[in-house]
Amino acid sequence: MSSDRKNIRFGQPAEPAATATIPRPYVQQHSNGNGTGNGSPEPAVAPAAEAAPAAAAPAQVIIPATPAPVPQVRLGRGLDVGTANLLSAVQGLDGSVTVKRERNAFLEIPATASANRDLLTKLGVPYVQHRDKLFVLGDMSFDLANMFGTEVRRPMQDGFLSPAERDAIPIMRYILERLLGPPAVQGESVHFCVPAESIDKENDTVYHEGIVGGILRKLGYTPTAINEGHAVIYSELGDHDYTGIGVSCGGGMFNVCVAYKTIPAVTFSVARGGDWIDQHVSKVMGIPRTRATAIKESNVNLLDPQTREEEAVVLYYRNLISYVLRNLKQRFELARDIPQFTEPVEVVVSGGTSMVGGFVEVFAEELLKIDFPLPIAGVRGAEDPLASVARGSLIAAALANDGS
Ligand SMILES: Nc1ncnc2c1ncn2[C@@H]1O[C@H](COP(=O)(O)OP(=O)(O)OP(=O)(O)O)[C@@H](O)[C@H]1O
Ligand SMILES: [Mg+2]
Repeated sequence: MSSDRKNIRFGQPAEPAATATIPRPYVQQHSNGNGTGNGSPEPAVAPAAEAAPAAAAPAQVIIPATPAPVPQVRLGRGLDVGTANLLSAVQGLDGSVTVKRERNAFLEIPATASANRDLLTKLGVPYVQHRDKLFVLGDMSFDLANMFGTEVRRPMQDGFLSPAERDAIPIMRYILERLLGPPAVQGESVHFCVPAESIDKENDTVYHEGIVGGILRKLGYTPTAINEGHAVIYSELGDHDYTGIGVSCGGGMFNVCVAYKTIPAVTFSVARGGDWIDQHVSKVMGIPRTRATAIKESNVNLLDPQTREEEAVVLYYRNLISYVLRNLKQRFELARDIPQFTEPVEVVVSGGTSMVGGFVEVFAEELLKIDFPLPIAGVRGAEDPLASVARGSLIAAALANDGS
């Protein structure tokens, strides 16, 4: 995933590989333990069956799992609460970081037939019974939905808890419980990302932050919110004194943070991301949304589209990048108390939507077009785009622990 990340230097020929900014031995795995990541011999957090039951749980969590030994981890977790994916990051005593990911999605299946329940248990499918309903959680819900030609439901939309989804809060709680496991000590700190306010959609950051924080508190953690773009600065710009521009290009939104020596000077988000591209490609091409997503995620190169559908993907990508950059310029010009950046600044792009081929090049091209008020040193892709925010949140948690 990370080997072909690009690093565009302004005024110089492009370099083929990204520069690693933080030395970090690294293990990535799915929380369902399928071993689709690099695979660690033992999970760093206990499976949900081991989790301490949070107070007043509305339903029973039934997740088949084998017990794991108590993890040897440093205190403090990072958590990326995203529209498409939830990721947790934890650091072992040896300094290695374990990242776990789960899709932020679920699928309701008929609860009437008890055979369904027995079968799910037998197959090791993660599910919960909530009130009188059965819900399959995370990646498995996605696989099942694809198999049966139906759509998953999603607790979040455009970066925030979905107002249209009434089961959003309990479902998020189940998935987070599975992902994080119990705290290593009661009240362990977890830094979780929240989006910046959107410039193009009214959304309630206070409500979102309060609800997610409340879920984490019920799970036994002490939550602290961190701005999503700021988390990218922590994970990717350690080698630049945490100074530069971090952009998280997600499913529901793009989050931008301009920071000077860790301090955010400008933060904002736009309520457009990978979902927005899928939605438009689907509409103009007359194809299902899932098909548009599949096309976008499978080897499209923004610099060399091969089909009409791919051309549509490129068009919306360019439009979105240009939209974000024009707004960045405007925000920067309107902001007060901007610090004096003494050197050209580094731009890092991360998030699933930045993983398409040619993204860094197109981002750099569009950036050159807008005559940005600061000199830019270059644009590079995050080493591990999907995990960047979770890792940055973990760094913020570790720094907070060191300082306390
Ligand atoms: N290889 C790929 N090429 C292009 N897009 C991809 C690829 N892999 C995943 N994506 C897209 O990345 C998006 C998910 O990215 P990510 O996990 O960073 O979002 P998120 O953090 O959950 O959302 P947000 O931050 O907006 O709330 C989806 O739109 C998905 O289609
Ligand atoms: Mg995100």
